[in-house]
Amino acid sequence: MTTTTTPAHPSTPPSGCPVHHAAAPQAPNGCPVSGHAAAFNPFEDAYLQNPPEYLRWAREQEPVFYSPELGYWVVTRYDDIKAIFRNHGSFSPANALEKITPPSAAVQEVLNSYNYAMGRTLVNEEEPAHMARRRLLLEPFTPEALKHHEPMVRKLARDYVDRFIDDGRADLVDQMLWEVPLTIALHFLGVDEEDMPLLRQYSIAHTVNTWGRPSEEEQIKVAHAVGNFWQLAGKILEKMRRDPSGPGWMKFGIRMQAEHPEVVTDSYLHSMMMAGIVAAHETTANATANALRLLLQHPTAWREICENPELIPNAVEECLRFAGSIIAWRRVAITDVTVGGIELPAGTKFMMVMASGNHDESHFPEADLLDIHRDNAGDHLSFGYGAHQCMGKNLARMELQIFLEELSRRLPHMALVPQTFHYLSNTSFRGPEHLLVQWDPAQNPERRDPSLLQREQPVRIGESTRATTGRAMRVTAVREVAEGVKEIRLAPADGRPVPRWTPGAHIDIECGDTGLSRQYSLCGDPAQPQELVIGVLLDPQSRGGSAWVHQHLNAGDTVKVRGPRNHFRFDETAQRVVLVAGGIGITPIATMAHRARQLGIDYELHYCGRSRRTMAYVAELQAEHGERLRLHVADEGTRADIPALLGQPRPDTQVYACGPERLLDALQQACAAWPEDALRVEHFHASGGALDPSKEHAFEIELKDSGLVLQVPADRTVLEALRSANIDVPSDCGEGLCGSCEVHVVSGQIDHRDVVLTRSEREANQKMMVCCSRSRLCGERLVLEL
Ligand code: FES
Repeated sequence: MTTTTTPAHPSTPPSGCPVHHAAAPQAPNGCPVSGHAAAFNPFEDAYLQNPPEYLRWAREQEPVFYSPELGYWVVTRYDDIKAIFRNHGSFSPANALEKITPPSAAVQEVLNSYNYAMGRTLVNEEEPAHMARRRLLLEPFTPEALKHHEPMVRKLARDYVDRFIDDGRADLVDQMLWEVPLTIALHFLGVDEEDMPLLRQYSIAHTVNTWGRPSEEEQIKVAHAVGNFWQLAGKILEKMRRDPSGPGWMKFGIRMQAEHPEVVTDSYLHSMMMAGIVAAHETTANATANALRLLLQHPTAWREICENPELIPNAVEECLRFAGSIIAWRRVAITDVTVGGIELPAGTKFMMVMASGNHDESHFPEADLLDIHRDNAGDHLSFGYGAHQCMGKNLARMELQIFLEELSRRLPHMALVPQTFHYLSNTSFRGPEHLLVQWDPAQNPERRDPSLLQREQPVRIGESTRATTGRAMRVTAVREVAEGVKEIRLAPADGRPVPRWTPGAHIDIECGDTGLSRQYSLCGDPAQPQELVIGVLLDPQSRGGSAWVHQHLNAGDTVKVRGPRNHFRFDETAQRVVLVAGGIGITPIATMAHRARQLGIDYELHYCGRSRRTMAYVAELQAEHGERLRLHVADEGTRADIPALLGQPRPDTQVYACGPERLLDALQQACAAWPEDALRVEHFHASGGALDPSKEHAFEIELKDSGLVLQVPADRTVLEALRSANIDVPSDCGEGLCGSCEVHVVSGQIDHRDVVLTRSEREANQKMMVCCSRSRLCGERLVLEL
């Protein structure tokens, strides 16, 4: 999106908008303020009832707009929001906790009477101070350190469900979702359990004080509550200082202060105590209430997690995407910036509506569909992104996973009571004030089977949830399409249409309880919504995958499938394509040929094999492609002459190939003189192999956005090092095949071990697959754009 910025009128109108409305016509984007932008009011109920719907117009027509109501520029698209979060050099978090409704003199007086002096915290402080503290205080938040809280979280969740399980009706917010996260937060912080209702009241006051638009009268009331909260936080801190030994993040902070007093200051600890109590429980309480409401409103998804709790970790990510509890956050520009194509001066304030970005179709296809199998659900922005990403995200994930697991296992027959949902009026925090549910206690499964009380699903934090996105599919037909090649047709077991896919896409088949998962390219027609088709060659070198498929999959069986996903995309704007398949590599290539034909792209299809007996779909391909199909059959003496097949380099031609390494190597060599990236290939296997610590060396990685420096020892991958430092990076295959863990590299020499990047991409040395690739030099530092 591009637009030109209209200079601000010298006299700012009473609305606070920097544009003189009368002098400027309405424009579809930016200032001057459009009708939609002028009407935007995040304090009205329609915003809180459904933030992404309320801002649909903005995502579609005016993704960055000035709001006179707020005096902020509002950013609504995924990429723009992420770009702001990651650029701490130009966007400061200094205004993240600023009162969005400026306090009157009377309100300030009340706050002063309590010596209220909320200072900078991890949330709103700038670099370099922020990262120094973050690094010092991060350790208790790492997945490894959080593990020991799991039994406590589970016990609390069980105890609270015990209290109402025989009642047949509950308000989950009042009876569980506030108190349990608050208790966990206090444990985590190391605070004795204080008066829960009082802390809840204080938390709400803090939210209204910072992100709400209360009347003058309400502001005075809220200011007293906030003042009391501030003083209580101070008292708790004083008590803790007398004995800072033992577990708890705040006690850890006090101990760190003794070692680094210049980094962890007194005022900092006081502010963090208050902010920590709120941050560690209110967001989780709201997120869980949102997730439960959402899942109960989507009975298929709820039934799926009840029947298969393995789906819960990814369902949590999808619920956080669809309806997270932190819906908007703020930044202020500290340099002149360009956001969504609009140039804005230093000092401009921004409100990024993550709830809108999380529904951006350009990043989440069919974004308004709740899909607990969505494989990029974890890309949501609900925890922010970059150097200030929520430190407590993995604690929140653990709680959400356990709450959903306990409730879906013990109350699968729970349903929403018809009700109107109410939300606290504010820009940034969203969760229903009450969540009424009902069920028939006589049907409680534990009455029939008390053993289910002992069941537990492992919590997944600090790892990709993609492995848990599998959906059950039924094998509708199996037939042999060549010697050693079976065609398998699959349809969703729940009767829903298959997910959309494009030529080059693959699915992952989970091979029963072998623990193996194998990727197979899709063949057939993407326009066919009822089934997915794969062709599977029984590989004599099989690592177990193809042998399992051949032996175990028969019509009527059910199998777990992940995807489809596509890392071998076909460029539909190509003028001319040469498509080369070797053996079973025909599956993605045939689909591309079909698409090229549909689109009228000039194409050649070359199909290589040992003998016709072993080559699947020959007759069908001949019928569809006629003269455009060339068969290269070794035992007929028509083996492919690769250089001749490609001919002279042509700038208008792209070459797509899938097949054995020998064929792909020959194509790489033959394409040496072709334009960069003319050749796009899909490999069957990674070439790097498993990590062998005896042959590796240690090195360092530096994360550009945060300055964090991590060691990568010889026995760990970069991905593992990132995860243990609480940095989320998507991943899937873990062996350099799929491209999902790609990270941009700012400097350092990369030892590429993947089979995803093209030759020129490797030579450019600007990106790497962190699941397998490493630093080329021992002790060297790679700087990553993270
Ligand atoms: Fe698949 Fe790294 S996770 S390439």
